Amino acid sequence: MSTPTSNNTRIDKKPIQIQVNGVMQQRHVEPRTSLVDFLRDELGLTGTHVGCEHGVCGACTVMLNDEPVRSCCMFAVQADDMRVTTVEGLAPERGVMTKIQDAFCEKHALQCGYCTPGMLMACHALVAHTPHPTEDQVRDAISSNICRCTGYQQIVDAVMYATQVEKK
Ligand code: FES
Ligand code: FES
Repeated sequence: MSTPTSNNTRIDKKPIQIQVNGVMQQRHVEPRTSLVDFLRDELGLTGTHVGCEHGVCGACTVMLNDEPVRSCCMFAVQADDMRVTTVEGLAPERGVMTKIQDAFCEKHALQCGYCTPGMLMACHALVAHTPHPTEDQVRDAISSNICRCTGYQQIVDAVMYATQVEKK
C-alpha cells in the first residue's frame, strides 16, 4: 500500500498492529506518521493532546507497555506489536472515572484542560509504581509536564488526595 507525494514519488505504507486501550488495531501507515497523529487522526482518540510537538510539554503523553512516553516523539511503526493506553483508556468503562480523575475534579486540578490528559498519564504512571507517593514524588513525576494555568499545586493536591483516600 502506498500514497503519492507532491513530486509523484510514492511512500510505502507499513502494516502495524497496536493494542490500543485493550483493542487490537491493525492499519497501514506511512513510516513518518507519529504515534500521536495515528491515535488522533487514524483512531479518533483526540483525548491525547498535541502541544509543542518537540517532546517538551508532555501534553501528548501516553503509556507504551505501561511506561509513559511522548507520543509526538515516536513513530507509530515503533509501537508495532505493543500496548498503548491513552487517557480514554484509563477508566475501566465509559462514564466512570479513576480515583485520580475524580480527584482532579474535586481539587480543581485543571482550568483550560489542555495539559490534563498528559498530566493524568504521568500521575497514573507514578501511582502504578508508587501507590502512596510523597508530595516530592508527585512533583517529580509531573516535572516534565507543562501547565500554564494551575500553578501545579492543585494537581499535586489531587494526587495526594486520591492516594490518601486509597489508603483508608
Ligand atoms: S506535544 Fe509531545 S511533548 Fe509536547
Ligand atoms: S489546565 Fe491549562 S495548561 Fe494546564
